Amino acid sequence: EADILSRLPLKDKKVLITAGPTYEAIDPVRFIGNHSSGKMGYALAEAAANLGAQVTLISGPTHLQLKHNLINRINVTSAAEMFEEVKKHYKTVDIAIASAAVADYRPALVADQKIKKKEAALKIDLEPTADILAYIGAEKKKQLLVGFALETENEVANAQGKLQRKNLDLIVLNSLNDKGAGFKTETNKVTFITKYGAVLPQELKPKAEVAQDVFELIQQLLHD
Ligand code: CTP
Ligand code: CA
Repeated sequence: EADILSRLPLKDKKVLITAGPTYEAIDPVRFIGNHSSGKMGYALAEAAANLGAQVTLISGPTHLQLKHNLINRINVTSAAEMFEEVKKHYKTVDIAIASAAVADYRPALVADQKIKKKEAALKIDLEPTADILAYIGAEKKKQLLVGFALETENEVANAQGKLQRKNLDLIVLNSLNDKGAGFKTETNKVTFITKYGAVLPQELKPKAEVAQDVFELIQQLLHD
């Protein structure tokens, strides 16, 4: 058995994955969130562990469960907490994959008591969160860096823009347009775009298979 493990292709690699949504508190009982299920990120964590990698999974709130002794899961709630955990871990990894649906904005002030209803409209000021993936991209040394992009228009051009701005090696463009692709579903229709300019549209597939494809491509990129 030891022999089989020693021959796994990512045996000596450390992988960091962000997954799931973030929740940004408004008051002690309310938050701003999104519909991300975390399924794609968890599928990536399992695919990496099955290839022998040591995985750190930094996860926003989900109901998903994992049991793989190569996966160290760290639970976070907000974008700020996710950023703190990423800063602790990204330096020592070989591969970092940002699949989390991180909130772009958070309430500028978090009320310390439950906000009571009134007759007037309620306005909540929002401030931007840190771009976690752009931070890793700006700081990265040897890490292979993979991002995701969710676009509803000019999909390939917008994803290529993100790849360049965030200094990525690979971006996985998610199509929401096709039936069965996107949040909450078991399947995804993605296009891989590499820093070398390759644009590789994929079939609609279960997320576990998309995850395996991502690691096939990562292994090719590691050997380039
Ligand atoms: N991302 C991140 N931190 C953020 C926002 C996004 O790490 N604060 C990462 C996501 O995990 C994803 C990539 O950046 O891998 C792209 O996220 P996306 O929401 O598609 O793009 P944004 O750069 O936030 O731009 P916009 O939402 O305006 O399209
Ligand atoms: Ca965003």
